[in-house]
Amino acid sequence: MATATPRPLGAFSDLTSELGICFGGDYNPEQWPREVWQEDAELMVGAGVNLVTVGVFSWARLEPSPGDYDFAWLDEVLDLLHAHGIAVDLATPTASPPPWLGILHPETLPVNPDGVRLAAGSRNQFTPASQVYRERALAIATAMAKRYAAHPAVRMWHVGNEFGQIDFGDEAARDFRLWLRERHGTIDALNDAWGTVVWAQRYRDFDEIVPPRRMPYLVNPAQSLDFRRYTSWALQRVFAEQRDAIRAAGAAQPVTTNFMGFEPLTDLWEWADEVDVVADDQYPDHASPTVSSDIALVQDLMRSLGDGRPWVLMEQAISATSWRPHNLPKSAERARLDSLQAVARGADAICFFQWRQARTGAERFHSAMLPHAGADTEVFRTTCALGADMRRLRPVVGGRVAASVALLFDWPSRWAAEEPGRPTERLRTLEQVARWHRALWRRGIAVDLVRPGADLSAYRTVLVPHTYIVETDAAAALRAAVEGGASLVVGPFSGVADGNAGILTGRSPVLLRDLVGVSGEEWVGLPDAPTPLAMESAWEAAPDTAEATVLGERLRADGAEVLARFASGHLAGAPAITRHRVGEGTAWYLGAVVSDDALTAVLDDALDASEVTGVLPDRVLPDGVEAVQRGAALFLLNHGDEPRHLTVPGARRDLLSDADVEGRLELAPGAAMVLIERHAE
Ligand code: GAL
Repeated sequence: MATATPRPLGAFSDLTSELGICFGGDYNPEQWPREVWQEDAELMVGAGVNLVTVGVFSWARLEPSPGDYDFAWLDEVLDLLHAHGIAVDLATPTASPPPWLGILHPETLPVNPDGVRLAAGSRNQFTPASQVYRERALAIATAMAKRYAAHPAVRMWHVGNEFGQIDFGDEAARDFRLWLRERHGTIDALNDAWGTVVWAQRYRDFDEIVPPRRMPYLVNPAQSLDFRRYTSWALQRVFAEQRDAIRAAGAAQPVTTNFMGFEPLTDLWEWADEVDVVADDQYPDHASPTVSSDIALVQDLMRSLGDGRPWVLMEQAISATSWRPHNLPKSAERARLDSLQAVARGADAICFFQWRQARTGAERFHSAMLPHAGADTEVFRTTCALGADMRRLRPVVGGRVAASVALLFDWPSRWAAEEPGRPTERLRTLEQVARWHRALWRRGIAVDLVRPGADLSAYRTVLVPHTYIVETDAAAALRAAVEGGASLVVGPFSGVADGNAGILTGRSPVLLRDLVGVSGEEWVGLPDAPTPLAMESAWEAAPDTAEATVLGERLRADGAEVLARFASGHLAGAPAITRHRVGEGTAWYLGAVVSDDALTAVLDDALDASEVTGVLPDRVLPDGVEAVQRGAALFLLNHGDEPRHLTVPGARRDLLSDADVEGRLELAPGAAMVLIERHAE
């Protein structure tokens, strides 16, 4: 086995400054005989692959029986890859324990809300609360780290896979109680925080508390919220234990795990500082008409989690997935656009699930860079072409996307807002976040996602589509931003609750009402037929018509100008859209889910007031076109089916085609350009 002296703690940027954009995917050599490994390595080199993730699902192969490790095959694989100049992101195989663990220790298996213990034999069969699971996982992670910390192929560590397990069993209950003691201190404090006086839920002792299992009727929303927080924390503990073991063994490479975008079980603001580089898995559904902006939102989240630092697209499909009810393949153009979009929005690694298509197992029909049919295929040619594109993008490595718009999002707010028993179940946090973000995506305006309470001084416009929980730090940061000259737009049903999901009493939004100059007293579900809004003459940029749906709020202007009112219905005559100047800035408030015309009119006002413009002169980009400035490079992507025309400032060169470009240009359907200024070369 090849060895080398350990390096000082490395950063992901060390890897990319050496390799350029990382390109590759999950590699599962344990599924193939040794003869195939050699062919894999050669084909990888030909395709421009420079990074592969190895070991994700290899626990049963590495530890066929408890404590009985077999690393010989992995030594061979790592040596082979290294000999071919391919770097390895080495995974701890802890996402999929071997059947023996569940058989010998059934308590390691998760229990669902109905009390059913899930069987071993698929994957993800562990509960993050299980002491035995954690010990076993730590043992194999430690053994691997000791063995491979100094292996020259290993350039990154990958802990587990897609953390997102939940368990309602007895061990989780005991663990949850310890977490609750830590959070609330005494049982009286917990009773207070959870409002257990309602429905006679008062607990005498922490030992009486269970996870929110299946109950006869609705669960206490504060209990649910705390259980979600606990679940994210327990998963994070599993990650951190293995990461620390890797470091303790002397490994100096960056350690990460693959997030799943807005996945509901992990609060990624809590996780972000735990990983050395943010990594994400993205499987957008191209059957959705809003897919391109929706995935841009996820990518903006990933960049924001890492404070703007480049991130890793750890997994995506090169063509079809196999887990949707109906799986559409991707065209070569689509596969290219998906990858370029991630680079545009800050990724410095473009990887896939997986390198070689599996012949057996549940994912035998999931596409791979190298399909069943072999190298003489369209998909493999797409793989090679992408590898070549990535090499051309070396000048982009390390570049940052500068955003002057912040969009507030956080998991506890989303969790608490979506508990049942509210004015309407039709208001979905993520849907509203995506709608608002889409309006900026269509304008070529970069957006950072920001956690409530974070400093906003770097932003000129701040958007709060739907943040249910607003605490004093978040309110203070919003006020400071507006007083300092920022535009703030707050959407309905924001600032409703405290950190324990208790409703803030008084006219709403309690902590923001002085700032927005408007206050409310009633939230109402709106009828299916949209409610028309009447525009006031004070609104210079009012759209001709606008409507409200889903949810409205009975508001009273307390100093704000009214821009639009409900024209009929339960809220007839009440303000629906308002504007309030405070200090150097302005705050808009939306007292309803308003139609796109009204939303974009408000956002345009807010952007104009704070002088935020897109990266191209067009106010709204042609349909389907995405434009992003990353460092010195201007990315132009045409996601649509029609050719589009754009005017780019200055004389530029396209890194992808090497062509010179100036002034007005045509972007064919599915085409992309990455333009740098010619004098900047
Ligand atoms: C991911 C997972 C991979 C593979 C892929 C298929 O969720 O991490 O192992 O299952 O999905 O789309």
